[in-house]
Amino acid sequence: MDRIAIIGGARLEGEIVISGAKNSAIKLMAASLLTDQPLRLTNMPRLADTRFLGQLLRRLGTDIIEQDGDDGAETILHTREIVSAFAPYDLVRQMRASFNVLGPLIARTGHAKVSLPGGCTIGARPVDLHLEALRALGASIDLHEGYVYAQAPRGLIGAEIEFPFVSVGATEHVMLAAVLAKGETVLKNAAREPELGDLAECLNKMGAQVSGAGTSTIRIQGVDHLHGATHSVIPDRIETGTFALAAAMAGGEVRLTKTRSDFVETLLDKMVEAGVEVIRHNDGMTIKRNGARLKAVEIETDPYPGFATDLQAQFMALMTLADGESVIKETIFENRFMHAPELARLGADILVSGGEARVRGVETLEGAQVMATDLRASVSLVIAALAARGETVVSRVYHLDRGFERLEEKLGACGANVRRIAGTGEPED
Ligand code: EPZ
Repeated sequence: MDRIAIIGGARLEGEIVISGAKNSAIKLMAASLLTDQPLRLTNMPRLADTRFLGQLLRRLGTDIIEQDGDDGAETILHTREIVSAFAPYDLVRQMRASFNVLGPLIARTGHAKVSLPGGCTIGARPVDLHLEALRALGASIDLHEGYVYAQAPRGLIGAEIEFPFVSVGATEHVMLAAVLAKGETVLKNAAREPELGDLAECLNKMGAQVSGAGTSTIRIQGVDHLHGATHSVIPDRIETGTFALAAAMAGGEVRLTKTRSDFVETLLDKMVEAGVEVIRHNDGMTIKRNGARLKAVEIETDPYPGFATDLQAQFMALMTLADGESVIKETIFENRFMHAPELARLGADILVSGGEARVRGVETLEGAQVMATDLRASVSLVIAALAARGETVVSRVYHLDRGFERLEEKLGACGANVRRIAGTGEPED
């Protein structure tokens, strides 16, 4: 397995072009199952997660062409017919969001057998809201031996669904199913993440009638069929925030382009509060820090537009060197502090208790061997390492490859001393 080695201490200067959003791309890919015509997605990130979903879609009957275009990498997905409505465990467990093929499969074929995704290192992550919502649309759902068996032979029927709490995945999943249902579906307490807006926009280009995405009430007027479309994936707000935090940690001046500052406003406000200079542009932002010590600030993760849970680990890395104590509350996932003991190996002072971490800023971090535990945790270790004395080696970087495109190249181009050490194929620990 590959590792990443970072020698800390280099300031970052330059530009980083942000990729298309992983968490949008994978839902847009699933949308291609809803039509027999080609869906052309541009500004696509090339990641392990998009590859995993591609493998599943091919098995279901999708032809996939990957090519380069004017708007970055392109993926053309064409599902002339669903050749199998079966999503096996081996493919769904590799990437949880693969579960979201269930709704489109029922909508297009009237039946599906899809593996339950199972647990995950950051929390239990059940799919009860997804299943309840699909039932509300008229699907009959049975669970046997780890699989969901769904039937809706006469098609799905629009319904009013009020989610008991906000779920990004469940909101997207119902949207993917309800666009082909008979009549109107109204989703209340819907997630408002920008990826929802992107999915709605793409579905509307395909002939769907979705309104209100980005607000907590989404209305979907079902249509008989969808057609092909071309759609550019929105910028990755988590990658944007991650590089903003990397620049703040290392010091220097980095311009993030092909992205949107409004997607990361809550983060940017916290960074400014900590003492980082942020200049917003039409195509992104510049992050500046001249070396003065940052102040500790508190954060609490919340659904969008609150502070993103997917940026919590990276923000914690920044706080390890801040002046004072930062309290970090995680409200979305119950086990999302696994990076804390790894940051402690670099010299951070962090006390975790339940859903709260207290980070007491230290003067210096020191390079060490550390282990990635999940996607965002792994990049928090890279961020900390940028400011640590000496060399840090991060193992299990396959986590990182799921969601960050050419990370070493992007940081390296700004002067970071980062290199990938190719694995031998042997287990590392
Ligand atoms: C999405 O996960 C993202 N993944 C996550 O990013 C992100 O952290 C999360 O939203 C929150 O922003 C993708 O988009 C692929 P949820 P999702 O449903 O949809 C509970 C990353 O690193 N819940 O909003 O799975 C759930 O356990 C990943 O890119 C239920 O209880 O998140 C969690 O506590 C990690 N029952 C909370 O709701 C359900 O049926 C919010 O989860 C569904 C969710």
